[in-house]
Amino acid sequence: MLCFSYWAELANRQLRIMPELISFLKKNEINNKVVQVAHRISSDYQHQELVLIGVLKGAFIFLSDLMRHLGIPVKIDFVGVSSYGSGTSSTGTIKLIKKIDIDLTNRDVLVVEDIVDTGLTLAYIVDYLKTLNPKTIKVCALLDKYERREAAIKIDYACHRVAEGFLVGYGLDYNENYRELPEIYRLKL
Ligand code: IMP
Ligand code: MG
Repeated sequence: MLCFSYWAELANRQLRIMPELISFLKKNEINNKVVQVAHRISSDYQHQELVLIGVLKGAFIFLSDLMRHLGIPVKIDFVGVSSYGSGTSSTGTIKLIKKIDIDLTNRDVLVVEDIVDTGLTLAYIVDYLKTLNPKTIKVCALLDKYERREAAIKIDYACHRVAEGFLVGYGLDYNENYRELPEIYRLKL
């Protein structure tokens, strides 16, 4: 039998690890929003085969949930960029660190991003994807964090809009931490 001190220690560790996290979106709220956006995408792309391009690393959980709620055939690939150092705002310098492997020529492409802040990363990715000659490119973001927007980019599908703050969990990280949390939290800095 596990003794009380074990559970006390575990609770203590949790408190020490996560004191700065404030609940933002619960599991069922995330799920409802993902299902709703998936239905919109499925009805807009009926009879078309869509290529989902996930933006590494943050979008991997969102992409995997989203694609399982789409009622249409999809192919997936990932693009990798680095723009964030270890802080909470962009360094402004964006580098392509993983290119697309599959042929996008004349394909309908949907970029799947975790969160759009200034929009500079997404603008860079869309510019890169355009060079691969797709038929169409649209954008789907889990979170549209709009207050600091600098690039004029259109987010065709957004699950949730938020003005500001730094969010973690459900794939989103702070210094590579918290991605594994099943819910989304606001980080108190
Ligand atoms: P942008 O270029 O300023 O739009 O930054 C977009 C990228 O920064 C996203 O792909 C995220 O990886 C990261 N990012 C921006 N805001 C947050 C946040 O609140 N939490 C976690 N990552 C963020
Ligand atoms: Mg990202």
